[in-house]
Amino acid sequence: MSVPFLDLTAQHVEIGRHLATELRRVFEAATFIGGPDVQAFEAEYAEMVGTRHCVGVANGTDGLELALRAVGVAPGGEVILPVNTFIATAEAVSRIGAVPIFVDVDPRHLLIDPQAVKRALTYNTEAIVPVHLFGQVAPVEAIREVINGSGVPIVEDSAQAQGAASPAGMAGALGTVSSTSFYPGKNLGAAGDAGAVTTDGADIARTVRVLAAHGSERKYVHERVGFNSRLDAVQAVVLRAKLRRLHDWNACRRAAAGIYGELLRDLHGVSLPEPAEGNTDVWHLYVIRVPRRDEVLGHLSAAGIGVGVHYPTPLHLTPAYASLGGHPGDFPVAEAAAAEILSLPMFPHITVDQQSRVADALRLAIR
Ligand SMILES: Cc1ncc(COP(=O)(O)O)c(C=O)c1O
Repeated sequence: MSVPFLDLTAQHVEIGRHLATELRRVFEAATFIGGPDVQAFEAEYAEMVGTRHCVGVANGTDGLELALRAVGVAPGGEVILPVNTFIATAEAVSRIGAVPIFVDVDPRHLLIDPQAVKRALTYNTEAIVPVHLFGQVAPVEAIREVINGSGVPIVEDSAQAQGAASPAGMAGALGTVSSTSFYPGKNLGAAGDAGAVTTDGADIARTVRVLAAHGSERKYVHERVGFNSRLDAVQAVVLRAKLRRLHDWNACRRAAAGIYGELLRDLHGVSLPEPAEGNTDVWHLYVIRVPRRDEVLGHLSAAGIGVGVHYPTPLHLTPAYASLGGHPGDFPVAEAAAAEILSLPMFPHITVDQQSRVADALRLAIR
């Protein structure tokens, strides 16, 4: 019997009735762009993250671009980011005409390495983007220490970490500003594309809001050339319903991670993910490392187990970034990881039985 990589249907059963009523209300009011649901979601999300402001946007990539622009990133500026992230992190930089400066990651958690950030810092650095990858919190405090008073803004990419926290606070509230994605498969997912920017900075929030609405705060008064990147009411209604369950669903993911830990701990040669001391991870992905990864992946797929690789090619070796002149060997930690990482099925409603089937199939695959 197969196990899907991600199954959102149980989430939708939980919220289905409530959602039907709420969606009917939106259609009856026919306020599809902006309006009370968007405002209410923004307030509720800001409260959950612990920031003063939240601005809903059309997707996480736009959110990052708008956040970077709002802190002053301009064409030709340098933005430091980890080399193992989804391409959107770098795209947001490139779309401004700024230059992504890739850095390597730590071997244990595959999160941006603060010492590598320190080495990459120049007078042209206009922002640093730690990515809270796989539901872990990136070392924002350590980055702040190494950049020590340089004033370079920290723009968090929180797309994979809604609800994650370190002792310093929630992902999304640790830097100068943060962008998150509500792509349907995220821990907090919309019914389509959506995203949000969170910050304590009133000016940053205002800039993002104005840029996202054709450069205007008041209708037909355009203070600058902007974009069209708004969160719509239908998505806000879905997100409000799911936000109420986010902490419970994240707790289910943590329990599932614990069960994988039990089921897989004796598997020779397989290394399991370990949360950093003191942090609350939200297990967006459960990423193990295995030798002969592609072979193992083939066996698991043949056995009906949904698996993924996040991500198979570090960005300096991706054709889209060939023009930056990256070579194999430039980022040894991320490159070694890219050959071994394997993401197992992980979602709040995964059952112990499904996880046992994954473990049995993995045991056969690595023999
Ligand atoms: C780390 C990371 N950054 C940025 C994004 C971009 O978000 P979106 O797909 O909403 O544009 C994603 C998700 O897709 C992501 O995983």
